[in-house]
Amino acid sequence: MTNVVVIGSQWGDEGKGKIVDWLSERADIVVRYQGGHNAGHTLVIGEKVFKLSLLPSGVVRPGKLGVIGNGVVVDPWALLEEMERVRAQGVEIDPGSLVIAENASLILPVHRALDRARELARGADKIGTTGRGIGPAYEDKVGRRAVRMCDLADPEQLRRRVDGLLVHHNALLKGLGDEPVSAEALVRELEAIAPRILPYAGVTWQVLSEAKRAGKRVLYEGAQGVMLDVDHGTYPFVTSSNTGAGQAATGSGSGPNSIGYVLGITKAYTTRVGSGPFPTEQDNEIGRTLGERGREFGTVTGRARRCGWFDATLVRQAMRVGGVNGIALTKLDVLDGLDEIRIGIGYDIDGRRYDHLPASEALQARAVPVYETMEGWKESTYGARRWADLPATAIKYIRRIEELIDTPVALLSTSPDRDDTIRVRDPFED
Ligand code: IMP
Repeated sequence: MTNVVVIGSQWGDEGKGKIVDWLSERADIVVRYQGGHNAGHTLVIGEKVFKLSLLPSGVVRPGKLGVIGNGVVVDPWALLEEMERVRAQGVEIDPGSLVIAENASLILPVHRALDRARELARGADKIGTTGRGIGPAYEDKVGRRAVRMCDLADPEQLRRRVDGLLVHHNALLKGLGDEPVSAEALVRELEAIAPRILPYAGVTWQVLSEAKRAGKRVLYEGAQGVMLDVDHGTYPFVTSSNTGAGQAATGSGSGPNSIGYVLGITKAYTTRVGSGPFPTEQDNEIGRTLGERGREFGTVTGRARRCGWFDATLVRQAMRVGGVNGIALTKLDVLDGLDEIRIGIGYDIDGRRYDHLPASEALQARAVPVYETMEGWKESTYGARRWADLPATAIKYIRRIEELIDTPVALLSTSPDRDDTIRVRDPFED
């Protein structure tokens, strides 16, 4: 028995929600440890579709504890709104089922405004952020001027923290020709929301440490994907947190020895929302077909996702830097009926062959994928529940992916329905 970390192996949107939900049935605690409400996890449970952003996926299942760790940036207004939305779907959420780290940093209205103003100012060079204030909130955390959950409980300390934060932000706003933010107004807003959010604040590292001693199973739910990692991703077109498995320890206060199996959720093709390099992108009929069949529209922003072939070079890199033991391969059915399927197996950059994506933005922009072409399959793989139900050519495609990324398939997801999952090995038992 072990704890499991689930991370995305590409640029996010790999279908983590369904797999996390599938695994959460066998976990006692589900922990979010990085990112914020930029994430969008869709869960289909029976007739109900839940769209979660900040809440750990386990909250929709009775009897599970959801933890929002210190590595998450929390927008208290957005979180309360999400809780109301999920409650309206019949889910009970109370301080017994959700704990938020007292040392988590908050996303404030000023972060949202700055995120959007900066994107506008960047024009054609924009990152394509979700506009949720994620980057500016992490900047303030690392800059040691963030307002944190625990500050909401202490009016004097809150005022001091807000004053300190606004010294920085008001100077910035002045430089941009914008109106300064009033400390009084921001403190009032925070004081108004404090009684609604504080009942959920807790010492989450201790909750997790006690759970570990009691032999409870913990599922760490990552957001985004390794290629959006602030260190290892396609910088600067990345999010502002570390998205690999190591962050599960830091972002929850669990310690690296709490992490057992790392499952990398991997889509059978590639998608990306927002700007940045995407060597195997198909800005053509193939890409449009993948987008339509895969319903590739963002859960959070509704933006159409860019689509392309599976990039084995990129995923192999994600396996190594993300620390992945096995993958859950998702959305294979989207490739059903294609005559041929391509897999990116390397890059040509300025006439030189690369077996990895180099760090330089300029080199990444010039990366031309080297492809291998495989035969497609005509049969439907949608909803398959046994390996034997898959066409031989589909199995060949899966085996080739395993070989190229040097990582085995642990789970195969064949539809959004949680039961349409072929299990090769149980991550919790590995
Ligand atoms: P931010 O996280 O809002 O700062 O956005 C930075 C980049 O990460 C943008 O390209 C976003 O589209 C991307 N991004 C952030 N969260 C997600 C996600 O959950 N799925 C896919 N892309 C994401």
